[in-house]
Amino acid sequence: MPEFFEVIKKRRSIRKYQNKEVEPEKIETILENVILSQTAGNLQSYVIFVIKNHDIKEALTQAAYGQEFIKQAPIVFVVCADQEKAGSVYGKRGYELYSINDASIVATYIELIACALGLGTCWVGAFDEQEVKQILGLPEGIKPIAIIPCGYPAEQPKMPKKKRDMIYFVE
Ligand SMILES: Cc1cc2nc3c(=O)[nH]c(=O)nc-3n(C[C@H](O)[C@H](O)[C@H](O)COP(=O)(O)O)c2cc1C
Repeated sequence: MPEFFEVIKKRRSIRKYQNKEVEPEKIETILENVILSQTAGNLQSYVIFVIKNHDIKEALTQAAYGQEFIKQAPIVFVVCADQEKAGSVYGKRGYELYSINDASIVATYIELIACALGLGTCWVGAFDEQEVKQILGLPEGIKPIAIIPCGYPAEQPKMPKKKRDMIYFVE
């Protein structure tokens, strides 16, 4: 198992996957660890779909404006914010912000844990939200945040340039 900082460095957005299944134990390892992430009031105001069904992957690909690599991945996670849950405790701030924070953090955990297990992922945020809601039958208050295809990488992208000129020290 790689060390924490190696995982941080190693994680890249992967958009090509080997034609190889992801072992159910690895999916289970991802899921049992992502639920440990921090969430507002420990409410876990997110919903995670783990999708293997080809037709649903195809529909998600179309909803994401034809980003073909989605359906090529053996597993696709869809992470949603449970706005109703966070809103029921924290009102507008919970509905509009904390639920999105919770879902974004858990999506980041998915990517990092998958990377630690030798898997590749890519956060897909460009999709038609209403279409994704329809595909998954999501009610009002469950907002899809990220589609995350996941599989064994078939590419090794170089680290893109990362700046740090948006960091300010205030002493
Ligand atoms: C909020 C968000 C939305 C993104 N949406 C897409 C997307 O729709 N399609 C895509 O191919 N990559 C998408 N990405 C991945 C970024 O392009 C990628 O993280 C960025 O280029 C940096 O590369 P790295 O992840 O390898 O560091 C998204 C990433 C984030 C965080």
